[in-house]
Amino acid sequence: MLREQVISAAELINAAQHSVVLTGAGISTPSGIPDFRSPECGLWVGVDPVAVASMYGFRQNPAAFYEWVYPLVDVTIHAEPNAAHYALAALEAHGKIAGVITQNIDTLHTRAGNRVVHELHGQFREATCTHCFEVFDAKPIIKQFLMDRQVPHCPTCGGVIKPNVILFGEQLPIRPFMAAQDLARKADLILIIGTSLEVAPASELPVLARKNGAKIIIVNLEPTHLDSSATLVIHADAAEVLPQIVKQMESIHEHDRQQ
Ligand code: APR
Repeated sequence: MLREQVISAAELINAAQHSVVLTGAGISTPSGIPDFRSPECGLWVGVDPVAVASMYGFRQNPAAFYEWVYPLVDVTIHAEPNAAHYALAALEAHGKIAGVITQNIDTLHTRAGNRVVHELHGQFREATCTHCFEVFDAKPIIKQFLMDRQVPHCPTCGGVIKPNVILFGEQLPIRPFMAAQDLARKADLILIIGTSLEVAPASELPVLARKNGAKIIIVNLEPTHLDSSATLVIHADAAEVLPQIVKQMESIHEHDRQQ
């Protein structure tokens, strides 16, 4: 079954002229970073996301956010791209995908080598003072935070510093979002990997692509609400499936070359 699905996925991506990828936290779980909604182990299990990860909650009680995010920061800064990230970098290098739209803040797509990456939910390379809006390189702030576990404050005005990751209720970064919409609009194939598609507006991008006639491939451990309208659904580990799809595409390419 999986073999046939890998072959179909390879053929669909090969036949497409303008493929785009949408990823979520599930592509990074093989790198040791937990996702949010997997039963039992997701980060939202037993936690109120609005209390710890909304803009409103952050302004009321930034310590709750920093307490919640502490284990995630540690595991994320030590995480490495996995075989699924590298497979997408190979697809971009071979001109098979136009870019990656990600909901992840872990920067693993860029570290794996993808050059066109639109980070819809921000990233933690920078951080901003929520009072004077000065922008900082996040590295030293994260280093200090992992040592003292304290809420970081702005050296200029004393305001609370927030990493440039998008919290619930916060406006998405407009340039990445516009670029992502543009990619989705032009796509004739959207490859959706490791996302529950529970959070808008990211979850609306596949609908936008489909409206323009795009085919949909979903690689996700759990079912999603889009499964019924997808061209192909593979319920398997992305780190296992994506390298197989790339390998299959290379053998198709080799076979065509010998014709
Ligand atoms: N391979 C394939 N799928 C996987 C893997 C894996 N190795 N590991 C987990 N998954 C699937 C899970 O079954 C789940 O359906 O990935 C999906 C991850 O879904 P979520 O945890 O909801 O993560 P995501 O879709 O990225 O969440 C979107 O919600 O909380 C906000 O801002 C946060 O960016 C996040 C957004």
